[in-house]
Amino acid sequence: MDKFVINGGKKLRGTIEVKGAKNAALKIFAASILTPETVKIKNVPEVEDITRISELLKDLGVEVIHPKKGEYQITAAKIKTSVINPYIAKKLRASIVLTSSVLARTGNVKFPHPGGCVIGERPINVFLDGYKALGAKINYRNNLYNISGKLRGAKFVFSNISVTGTEAMLMASSLAKGKTVLKNCACEPEIESLANFLNSCGAKIRGAGTPFVIIEGVESLKGAEYKTIPDRIEAGTFAILAAATKSNILIKNCEPEHLDSLWIVLKSAGVCLKISSDSVEIIPSRLKTVDVKTHEYPGFPTDLQAPVCVLLTQAEGQGLVHETIFESRLFWLDELKRMGADVLMHDPHRISIKGPTKLRAREIESPDLRAGMAYLIAALVAKGKSTLNNVYQIDRGYEKIEERLRKIGAEIKRI
Ligand code: EPU
Repeated sequence: MDKFVINGGKKLRGTIEVKGAKNAALKIFAASILTPETVKIKNVPEVEDITRISELLKDLGVEVIHPKKGEYQITAAKIKTSVINPYIAKKLRASIVLTSSVLARTGNVKFPHPGGCVIGERPINVFLDGYKALGAKINYRNNLYNISGKLRGAKFVFSNISVTGTEAMLMASSLAKGKTVLKNCACEPEIESLANFLNSCGAKIRGAGTPFVIIEGVESLKGAEYKTIPDRIEAGTFAILAAATKSNILIKNCEPEHLDSLWIVLKSAGVCLKISSDSVEIIPSRLKTVDVKTHEYPGFPTDLQAPVCVLLTQAEGQGLVHETIFESRLFWLDELKRMGADVLMHDPHRISIKGPTKLRAREIESPDLRAGMAYLIAALVAKGKSTLNNVYQIDRGYEKIEERLRKIGAEIKRI
């Protein structure tokens, strides 16, 4: 397993560009098998999760060509099996969205219960209820779900707002017979982007990006081209990294509109920002604390909760962080405490952080993607040498992060 060795405590300076959104591209890969024609995907981040979903598609007999960096061509002329490879699926939670396109395309899908994960239980009841509403039959035998049936349009109300659940229902109902009405949908930009892609393939989806979505099923979909939207979580992570290390950084190729809730938090924390239509400049500022509550989009993203906690360790005063989406997403803070953060846990969903504190360099283990990235920010803040283990977790979602951070002055190497 690779490690990062970081010599922290330095101010960074320069320009960093944002890559395509992992959580948008993954869903386009899954959706591309709804058509037998070729789908061309551009601006794809070169990250481990994309490699994993490519492996899953190839395992289904789908052709995945990677002609150059950031570009993929997917052709699902035939799908040779409707079993989603359990070994790979366990490594990638996003594999759950593939269940939808395999089911819609072949009338059957078999898959294991996706593994739990350090951020929470992550059940799949929403998916099962949704497929049932569209007329599918569900069996669970020999550790595999077996879902089958010809899908028919229906009305479905999400009992829980779910990003991948909404995406799965958009895909499944695009090829269902008749009209589907979805209520209480998630509204993340990646969902709207998926709907735009599906519509360019011939689907008829209205309202994506709002809680109410209507889909008129079509007989078949054709191939199309898609350019991945900028990764809002990566852009937000860079903005927080810049503010926490008191650095002057220009973040380019992003979509600041997708991060309004973060800009409000950063401004309240005293961070000076210059926002344009596709870039944000962070100017070194004196930080004061702020309360943060995660929420479904357009609220503050749970994926930025860990980085923002590191920021609060450098801000004056005591701030409350309320994680409302996942039940185990605050436990990574135990390690941040060992780096010197003054953290008080009230309950599994709420903590207080008092600052500013001097963080101490040390050896740390990345437990998951976003907490791993938060430790990397903490290591850049802390004076001296930190070692970050298990960087596979960071590689899952951030392309060659050490090379990109070195360009803005970070002392970081992979060993
Ligand atoms: N939930 C259920 N039942 C379900 C599905 C979800 O109760 O069947 C609950 C979850 O347990 C959670 C809440 O609903 O408490 C929201 O979960 P959601 O389904 O929206 O999360 P997800 O779709 O599995 C995506 C992103 C996550 C991101 C969340 C929230 C992908 C591949 N993953 O997950 O991204 O944190 O939405 O915005 O799109 C990451 O990139 O590091 C990451 C974890």
